[in-house]
Amino acid sequence: MRTLQNILVTGGAGFIGSNFIRTLLTQDTGFQGRVVNLDELTYAGNAASLNDIQAEFGGKRYFFVHGNICDNKILSGIFTEYNIDTVVHFAAESHVDRSILGPEVFLHTNILGTFNLLEAAKTAWQKNDGSIKEGVLFHHISTDEVYGSLGAEGFFSETTAYDPRSPYSASKASSDHLVKAYFHTYGLPVTVSNCSNNYGPFQFPEKLIPLMILNMLEGKKLPVYGDGKQIRDWIHVEDHNAAVRLILQNGKSGETYNIGGENEWENIRLLHKLIEIVCDKAGLNKDTVMQTITHVTDRLGHDRRYAIDCTKIKNELNWKRQFDFETGLANTVDWYLNNKEWIDNVRSGEYRNWIQKNYTRR
Ligand code: NAD
Ligand code: DAU
Repeated sequence: MRTLQNILVTGGAGFIGSNFIRTLLTQDTGFQGRVVNLDELTYAGNAASLNDIQAEFGGKRYFFVHGNICDNKILSGIFTEYNIDTVVHFAAESHVDRSILGPEVFLHTNILGTFNLLEAAKTAWQKNDGSIKEGVLFHHISTDEVYGSLGAEGFFSETTAYDPRSPYSASKASSDHLVKAYFHTYGLPVTVSNCSNNYGPFQFPEKLIPLMILNMLEGKKLPVYGDGKQIRDWIHVEDHNAAVRLILQNGKSGETYNIGGENEWENIRLLHKLIEIVCDKAGLNKDTVMQTITHVTDRLGHDRRYAIDCTKIKNELNWKRQFDFETGLANTVDWYLNNKEWIDNVRSGEYRNWIQKNYTRR
């Protein structure tokens, strides 16, 4: 088992990364080391999501660095200053719809950014004879979308051929290939995980579940793309992150691990379920909310179905999901109902001022 000491988390102010850091530092994960969170704080980054962590661990075991993964100087400085032994690379442009409207930033961040990070890790970890020092690992967080779109049958496994279909998934596929190339070419110890749709607290309300919850609470329309019969496999963010921790500790270098919820839902069916939960908890009239469902123009190139076969990580790393969907979804709705300040800050754009108020860039 690897011992993790100084972890560089990229994109730790985003949805999955912030949950990853909080659990790593506050739960009984066995981790005793330090976390450096490098985040550019794009529209999707919200440093306030980790205010509690900053207050408890800031300057001791948690270090926030405001910066871009495309910036080589910042990267090499972090590797040297914090003696990084583990990289967990979450930072990315992550929203498919935005990639359709403006693909370029996806290529910069997801492809060039990953390339820069790989170069920085290689430079920091390479010994004089060209070999890589012991005990280091670069873990790349990726998506099931690299495998394309399924018909009614079948699952994506680690050996499914890549077939990305949106600018987002093409950029993630490209970054996955670069990570594997650094393993084969330079011997950089790497692992890759490809996960299905995450849900849970702190997700930016452009993604289906938080968008629908907030629209319901605000009496807005609920936009369903096309016929709403597209299928996604939903997994709680904590189950995803538990799998990532196992990979960091016991994953085999050069390997890919698929992570999924084994929990397929048609979008429209999921929306009906969500309406029931939200109406029940927030005292809204279900019939009135149902009438706000609005079928809108479909997403261009919309993938029809994703489903993950996660036998490998279950068998090889003994990973098990903890959350059943009903409970996880109900907890998520509770979180959005109980965290009004976070939501108001996101809705108003106030969260973008965190950096001016709390931090001096070096
Ligand atoms: P997110 O959009 O919520 O967060 C992304 C974070 O990366 C933000 O904090 C943002 O400020 C930061 N970032 C963006 N560009 C950056 C740059 N150039 N330099 C430094 N930081 C930058 O994303 P998420 O949903 O938390 O996803 C995290 C990772 O997980 C991504 O790599 C995504 O592809 C992958 N993933 C997401 C899901 C999902 O359902 N959300 C599922 C599978 C895989
Ligand atoms: O599968 C993993 C991927 O899941 C991650 O790699 C991505 O980063 C993450 O954003 C997510 O991608 P999706 O495109 O599946 O997620 P999104 O929440 O945007 O949409 C989920 C489904 O709901 C999809 O079929 C599109 C549909 N949708 C979405 C929105 C925002 C709607 O019908 N209406 C909407 O308003």
